[in-house]
Amino acid sequence: MDTLDAIHTRQSVGKVKPDPVPRETIEKLLSAAVQAPNHYKVRPWRFVVLTGAGREKLGEVLASSLKEKQPKFPPEAFDKERGRPLRAPVVIAVGVDKPVEAKVDQVENICATAAAVENLLIAAHAEGLGAKWRTGSPANDPRVKQFLGFEPDHHLIAFLYIGYPEFDLEPVERPSFEDRTVWME
Ligand SMILES: Cc1cc2nc3c(=O)[nH]c(=O)nc-3n(C[C@H](O)[C@H](O)[C@H](O)COP(=O)(O)O)c2cc1C
Repeated sequence: MDTLDAIHTRQSVGKVKPDPVPRETIEKLLSAAVQAPNHYKVRPWRFVVLTGAGREKLGEVLASSLKEKQPKFPPEAFDKERGRPLRAPVVIAVGVDKPVEAKVDQVENICATAAAVENLLIAAHAEGLGAKWRTGSPANDPRVKQFLGFEPDHHLIAFLYIGYPEFDLEPVERPSFEDRTVWME
């Protein structure tokens, strides 16, 4: 697929099949991700690839975290939480390194990691996969961060849900750049 076609036709795909995605394909997506620009060559992105039982373990963490915060919720609420990571055969959690040198800026690290995420989403689309970028409360949950190997003050910027699309995609029409752009000539 042509690069511009891939960018223009990419769209979020929330419903994907449970069919497994080959490891080589996931590695292709990660390789595309790390081609993103990053200042001082710090490569601030961190990926945690959850498949199979890895997703179930994340589901347990989500459910027990909700139970701790909302012990009186009905059991169905915890079941729903437990099932969230099972919505796709592959879930990639994306974290951002904290700067270790004074010259390295946290915002720049977040920007670089977001660029890596977009690369990955475009690559997934070009490979015939569907993907959706999610965050929500799990992205700010210290228990979730600890489970994934991050510290409480690490930024977790994405949970990428990836699989083969359940339905054929309808073309998307997005607003133009024009009302968001000025030209200074
Ligand atoms: C940082 C970030 C976080 C997001 N978090 C969520 C989320 O938690 N749940 C959700 O449904 N969509 C979330 N989205 C939005 C979708 O992933 C998607 O990009 C949006 O619905 C636009 O659809 P499109 O990608 O087809 O243009 C997030 C997007 C970004 C950039």
